[in-house]
Amino acid sequence: MISPRPTPPVAIRDMQHDDLAMVSDIERRSYEFPWSHGVFRDCLLAGYQSIVLMRDNRVAGYGILSIAAGEAHILNLCIEPEFRSMGYGERLLDDMLARSRLASVREILLEVRPSNTMALALYRKKGFYQVAKRPAYYQSHEGREDAAVLAKKLVIDD
Ligand SMILES: CC(C)(COP(=O)(O)OP(=O)(O)OC[C@H]1O[C@@H](n2cnc3c(N)ncnc32)[C@H](O)[C@@H]1OP(=O)(O)O)[C@@H](O)C(=O)NCCC(=O)NCCS
Repeated sequence: MISPRPTPPVAIRDMQHDDLAMVSDIERRSYEFPWSHGVFRDCLLAGYQSIVLMRDNRVAGYGILSIAAGEAHILNLCIEPEFRSMGYGERLLDDMLARSRLASVREILLEVRPSNTMALALYRKKGFYQVAKRPAYYQSHEGREDAAVLAKKLVIDD
């Protein structure tokens, strides 16, 4: 009998400038309207909480979180296509939730395309709910697409 290959361990750490080539490559293969390399560089320069999930010394996913005035905003969350549905997106999201709690954030927000069923399933599983709609927020090949704005309240221990 052939035993299944063990899944390599993964680790989450802060994104560094040297990661940007791998991050941009995953981004290009994941979105129809990807962020440019320059946008990721600007996120690092702006001091956004930018994290990568490493597997076998390769970037397998990343998340970008902006925190200001007691509010956090998830700006990007993406997993390498070949490693999806393995729990990595949830691990990155848990890390961003933990970082938000550490920064005493009371509410965390994000935008998502209503057509993005995988992302919506993940966010709903983690307790996000829709609070608004931003009309014509996203580029699309058929004009513009609305964004659903999702939120989750975080409980801070007093
Ligand atoms: C959305 C995304 C980050 C999810 O990451 P992932 O690693 O594939 O998800 P996980 O394996 O951690 O799964 C967590 C939950 O997501 C949902 N999910 C994952 N794969 C799914 C699938 N194939 N179909 C439906 N829901 C799915 C489930 O709710 C799952 O929980 P469960 O395993 O208890 O059922 C990933 O699909 C991705 O990178 N998509 C492209 C980029 C993107 O759209 N980002 C979101 C922008 S707002």
